[in-house]
Amino acid sequence: MENQKSKKLWGGRFDGSTAASVEAFTESISYDQRLYSYDIMGSKAHATMLAANGLLSRDELNAIVEGLTAIESSIEAGTFTFKSELEDIHMNIEKALIDAVGPAGAKLHSARSRNDQVALDFRLYLRDQCDRFAALLDDIRRAFVVLAREYMGKIMPGYTHLQRAQPVLVSHHMMAYYEMFGRDRERILDCRRRINILPLGAAAMAGTGLPINREQVAEILGFDGVTANSMDTSGDRDFAIEFTSCCTMIQLHLSRLSEELVLWSSQEFSFVSIADKFCTGSSIMPQKKNPDIPELIRGKSGRVVGSLMSLLVLIKGLPLTYNRDLQEDKEPVFDTVDTASASLAIMAEMLANLRFNTDAMEEATRTGFITATDLADYLVLHNVPFRDAHGIVGRAVAACIEKKCELTDLTLAEMREFSSVIDKDVFEVLSVEGSVDSRISTGGTAGVRVEEAVTKAEQLMSITGRGEVGSV
Ligand code: ARG
Repeated sequence: MENQKSKKLWGGRFDGSTAASVEAFTESISYDQRLYSYDIMGSKAHATMLAANGLLSRDELNAIVEGLTAIESSIEAGTFTFKSELEDIHMNIEKALIDAVGPAGAKLHSARSRNDQVALDFRLYLRDQCDRFAALLDDIRRAFVVLAREYMGKIMPGYTHLQRAQPVLVSHHMMAYYEMFGRDRERILDCRRRINILPLGAAAMAGTGLPINREQVAEILGFDGVTANSMDTSGDRDFAIEFTSCCTMIQLHLSRLSEELVLWSSQEFSFVSIADKFCTGSSIMPQKKNPDIPELIRGKSGRVVGSLMSLLVLIKGLPLTYNRDLQEDKEPVFDTVDTASASLAIMAEMLANLRFNTDAMEEATRTGFITATDLADYLVLHNVPFRDAHGIVGRAVAACIEKKCELTDLTLAEMREFSSVIDKDVFEVLSVEGSVDSRISTGGTAGVRVEEAVTKAEQLMSITGRGEVGSV
């Protein structure tokens, strides 16, 4: 370095060295080192383009590429020393390169700013995370399909307001989550399309006068295109917010599932038994077996939502273009990636070890007038207007509550007091099996519909036979 006064890569105009407190406050290397492989990948592509456009000689390019490869190996071997006085991953690597290969290394940053460099690294990282999350989502979706197949035909109460509402197939309930996580997968892959646009070449924010070829870099790095406005590019973190919002939705879906598992594993419900290896005991109450995994997943949704909020507030009121505030984008995103991916993985593992207590589930459909809607529908089919039918069944239910019995306990004569259109075929309608089987509307819980849904999912997820996962 020519400059003797400040050792920073940007130190030319600075007189003294930076205060230690400032270095400690401004550094990001403690966490953005996670981006090292993307930084190196981006630099290699950038150097290749610089050489193709006459800004680097062949020898310089070779020196840079070899130097970067060696740096990557030493980071992976754990022998690289990250220095907080070099602020971030970009300058740690660039300085190491200059130290290793000399002047060629000092040419690497031509036509580039850390502003477009960090945007590039972050996009490359998140692009990979989108693919990783899509795979994790497929794993958990497979687990639901396997459960749906295993418990095909078993009945449980469906709830609204957490009150027994209508009987459904256990498999239908499982397939509801299959759908939810399917939307999450679509969402994250859609988000990937907007992530996969090259920001490099925006330079600081106005573009560059040096002869570069952004399309070439995009092609080398597998981007679908290049961003259109350098000012937008330099200060844009929409893609990170969008990604975090996709993960938040995933975490919230996991949280809803967790809540159900916590309820279902309680003695009050006793619908499921979570494998011992996924539970812990109490240090004081010997009888306890606690559903810690779903509780923690539910609890962790707080930090994921919090991270999303951090990012949203981060960009509020930021003037164009890059502002150092944007360095605060990484920790919430990294934490979200770690939290949501770990939650997805452990939940999928737990689901694979989940047992349903189908007797208790079925038993719970026997009380609570769960087929009352079916009786109303029966009346509708006998030409009673639905609102009248609703009133008739309501009065019948009230009478049962009074008599402390279920609708099925009424005799035909008693039934007919409520409506003369009722005949003895009503008892089939009042059975939970009849109720489930009648719901043949598209997306309904009838056995035929659920069988179709599960079969389709098995084909889509390459599941063969009973829960065996074939090659995709
Ligand atoms: N560490 C910085 C960040 O994460 C990199 C960009 C810094 N650019 C700058 N001109 N200070 O945002």
